[in-house]
Amino acid sequence: MNGLLKAEKFKPPWIIAHRGFRAKYPENTLIAFQAALDAGVTMIELDVTPTRDGKLVVMHDKTLDRTTNGRGPVNGYFLKELKKLDAGSWFNPVFASQHVPELEEVMELVHGRALINIEIKPNPDDDPHPSDAIERQVVELVNRKNAHDAVLISSFDRTVLEKIESLENPPALALISRDPADSSTITFCRRLNIFSWHPNHSMLSHEQVNLMHSAGIRVFPYNADTPEDVQRMFDMNVDGIISNDPLFVIDWLKHNKIA
Ligand code: G3P
Ligand code: CA
Repeated sequence: MNGLLKAEKFKPPWIIAHRGFRAKYPENTLIAFQAALDAGVTMIELDVTPTRDGKLVVMHDKTLDRTTNGRGPVNGYFLKELKKLDAGSWFNPVFASQHVPELEEVMELVHGRALINIEIKPNPDDDPHPSDAIERQVVELVNRKNAHDAVLISSFDRTVLEKIESLENPPALALISRDPADSSTITFCRRLNIFSWHPNHSMLSHEQVNLMHSAGIRVFPYNADTPEDVQRMFDMNVDGIISNDPLFVIDWLKHNKIA
């Protein structure tokens, strides 16, 4: 059975830190996740990608260029090479000591303090690993860490979610989308017992939220960061927000007496 069993312990609305506290810290680094935990988020969101030797590291892009001082594809490097890179200076030189974390390191940091949303992006065509390697490794790690009831695995790619669901003891699943939901979305979500739907906030409507709620699926829009965005999302009765600035959302909720 896949299910986020700890969900009941967390009162809505959920505040989900997108790539950590990305507005103020270098994304997908330990300091960004620590800052999100300190802010009191419900969940942290991160992106996972494989190294040349098949280890799982936390990085959004398939290449090192934007967020480290390295160059080229992440899966062209061994873990020990990636560990030497500076993953913080691109954001601000004060974060020069930040490195590219392994998924396991982040899970150990977060353990018991928040839920974890692990996003899996599709493998590039030239990936040297088996096509379901990431899915198998993530599920194996989650179960080895006894984190099955604290992890939500999300993807834009439905085949990624199908692969996870076919494995033994899969964690809860979420579908990310840039497009509005329709009846085929509901059919897919029901088939895989999807826990939540993560749309881009800019295309979300009240009708979409109602449609997903009528199917028992929670709605967590992403990249809602401004007061206008946040107001619009909660006016539509979303179940939480995936934000780059989780502290702003927490303060907004307090100010508006929703939290
Ligand atoms: O989970 C939603 C969001 O993280 C998806 O977009 O590109 O920021 O990973 P991206
Ligand atoms: Ca992501």
